[in-house]
Amino acid sequence: MRYDTEGVHINAHGGCVLYHNGTYYWYGEYRNPKKEGTPGTQGVGCYSSTDLYNWKKEGVVLSVVDDPNSDITAGCKIERPKVIYNEKTGKFVMWFHLEFKGRGYGTARAALAVADNPQGPFQLLHSLRPNAGRWPMNFPDSRKTALTSEQMKREIAGNNTWPAIRDGAYTRYNFEDGQMVRDMTLFVDENGKAYLVASAEENYTIHIHELTDDYLDLTGKWIRVEPSGHNEAPALMKRNGKYYMLVSGCTGWEPNDARLLVADSIWGPWKKAAYNPCVGTNPFNNMGPDKTFGGQSTYILSVHGKPNAYIAMFDVWRPKVQLIESGYIWLPIAFENDKMVIRWRSQWDLGVFNN
Ligand code: GAL
Repeated sequence: MRYDTEGVHINAHGGCVLYHNGTYYWYGEYRNPKKEGTPGTQGVGCYSSTDLYNWKKEGVVLSVVDDPNSDITAGCKIERPKVIYNEKTGKFVMWFHLEFKGRGYGTARAALAVADNPQGPFQLLHSLRPNAGRWPMNFPDSRKTALTSEQMKREIAGNNTWPAIRDGAYTRYNFEDGQMVRDMTLFVDENGKAYLVASAEENYTIHIHELTDDYLDLTGKWIRVEPSGHNEAPALMKRNGKYYMLVSGCTGWEPNDARLLVADSIWGPWKKAAYNPCVGTNPFNNMGPDKTFGGQSTYILSVHGKPNAYIAMFDVWRPKVQLIESGYIWLPIAFENDKMVIRWRSQWDLGVFNN
């Protein structure tokens, strides 16, 4: 558990941390207590801190609404919200994974909202399926034909499922309506270019979509990463010109082994590292690298003013108790000869980055 300055468990799951003008803002899924309010998420919660230890509740910065015609009518799912700041427009831009009310995880959309202040309120602009009618840059011309649902099902039937997914059966099926977005993150590169990185193709393949300069739209440039790798929960960082993407496997709320993808360019090629970056065991649940200490990746935070100080943020989902009680594991990321190492520590402070 992690408590805010009022002693209440922090309610900001699947979140991110943005640094702006001396303050860190932690945004995440603001979940309802069981049996209270509507099912699904209530919106996006925000907490602020100047030291990364003490978190003050700022409130719900984007809330579901009563209007049944709104994309975020109460009962929808708002997951994995990410907020970035646009230097050119001075706006705070939020993207999140949205599922329409009553549709399970079937709608798989991205939604975006903007605010003038980090504490919100955020205004929903709209929701979408990215890059409808645009092929990924790393897709062979020979497969650039859209598939109907029947054709797609035929492609993935029988023994051919994995090769067909790898070769883009879902990409082609989703071509006309746009690609799916489930677990997602945003990543801003040193040159200010930002990217939406999402688990797509029924969670079989990660997509990287370039955002326009105002971060409110897509440029049309996008790629598929680790086709049929079955990865989700992406979290990115860049160090010494190399891009690192931490992902999880796909086992719902249950923990699994973290995987690491590495590239010299955001446009790839992305290679899966031969090792699991997690090392050690969480003594509170006896879970080691094969279960990511009981957590699932959500974001990599750069500590302001400290070069090479990165914190890996994980959620410890507790669906059986109730999701609002889900915990957090934050661990420092070390590099040993370019190899990412996330070592279990039961206790640590920012002093680890001084060594
Ligand atoms: C997980 C995902 C979560 C949530 C959950 C629902 O795989 O990482 O963000 O969507 O599934 O079952």
